[in-house]
Amino acid sequence: MSERVRIFDTTLRDGEQSAGVCFQPEDKVEIASLLAEMGVDVIEAGFPASSAGERRAVAQVARSVRGTVICGLARAVLDDVEAAAEALADAEAPRIHVFVNASDMQIDRQLRKSRRDVVGMVDAAVRRARRATDDVEFSPMDATRADPEFLAEVVRTALAAGATTINIPDTVGYILPVKLEQLFRDLRRRVPEVEGAVLSFHGQDDLGLATANAVAAVGAGARQIEVAVNGIGERAGNTAFEEVVMALRIHGEALGVHTGVDPEGIYRVSRCVEDRSGMPVPPNKPIVGRNAFRHASGIHQDGVLKWRETYELIDPKTIGHPTGTEIVLGKLSGRAGFAERARQLGFALDEAGLDRAFVRFQSVAETQRAVGDEEVMAICRGAAA
Ligand code: KIV
Repeated sequence: MSERVRIFDTTLRDGEQSAGVCFQPEDKVEIASLLAEMGVDVIEAGFPASSAGERRAVAQVARSVRGTVICGLARAVLDDVEAAAEALADAEAPRIHVFVNASDMQIDRQLRKSRRDVVGMVDAAVRRARRATDDVEFSPMDATRADPEFLAEVVRTALAAGATTINIPDTVGYILPVKLEQLFRDLRRRVPEVEGAVLSFHGQDDLGLATANAVAAVGAGARQIEVAVNGIGERAGNTAFEEVVMALRIHGEALGVHTGVDPEGIYRVSRCVEDRSGMPVPPNKPIVGRNAFRHASGIHQDGVLKWRETYELIDPKTIGHPTGTEIVLGKLSGRAGFAERARQLGFALDEAGLDRAFVRFQSVAETQRAVGDEEVMAICRGAAA
């Protein structure tokens, strides 16, 4: 039987931690509304204790966006939890996400507290959050570099205090997929009561492993994955929303899981986040990059023209792509791609005409990155004459 993996989107919180990004409250409402329409399970709207403006923005999302859980982040300190509870007061389904440093390096060097202090903070903050809402997530930050026994202890404490989701953050994008699977299995063995909560994974992409780690986490029992649209987020970013949704769609049967997200809104939400964040999507970005459905080399063009799936994993319609598969003519393009574009542009060249046109096309393509429609038309006119 297929199990549901919840999609927790943190574009508006960790995504906004990208250097240079500043969402306005109306941007947050717009992006959250698109995500809610797509069936995203949880939307982390922000970090209410960070400023009065952020508190107001989270409250605006909580008031305006329905049909999904709205979450606010809080350090494991009572003032933060109270700020989150206040900002989420009008949410249909509020979640408070409590986090604390869990690796010794971060506890000693940043927090400058003891392990005992941390356990006490988790207990008090999660209990306070539970008085505000039944839906409390706990994250032991830097879990993948933490001592496994201490990790188990803070998770036990959070569960006893009432946490309903336990999220394992790979805060600096350090872990390998195979090690992450071991970590999840080890945690489940040490803390059997974690089975009563939802296990979650939050990945950063410092080594480019975030999506692979998310899929490995699902294989090891995670039933919530934290993501951001276009993979934006602190430093190299977060696990990309679109990559996880499509990877779980394509491999869902093998993994025995599915998500509740309708992928048809992916293109639209990606463009909206690109625009509102001011962070351009790289052309080669999986799923949402400009080149994701463009074919430039002769062999690939020939294959795609004969049968799309020969060189295209995803049907662009699935993600609501407005133009779909595209043949881009350039230096490495072949006769089949050129002939098809000539035909699309209305030229019915005979074989000899096509030969002449293709020779001319190749000499033009040698010296430039792409050959546009105007040039193709001029070449075809010349060859037809
Ligand atoms: O990267 C991280 O560890 C986080 C946690 C708060 C989940 O963002």
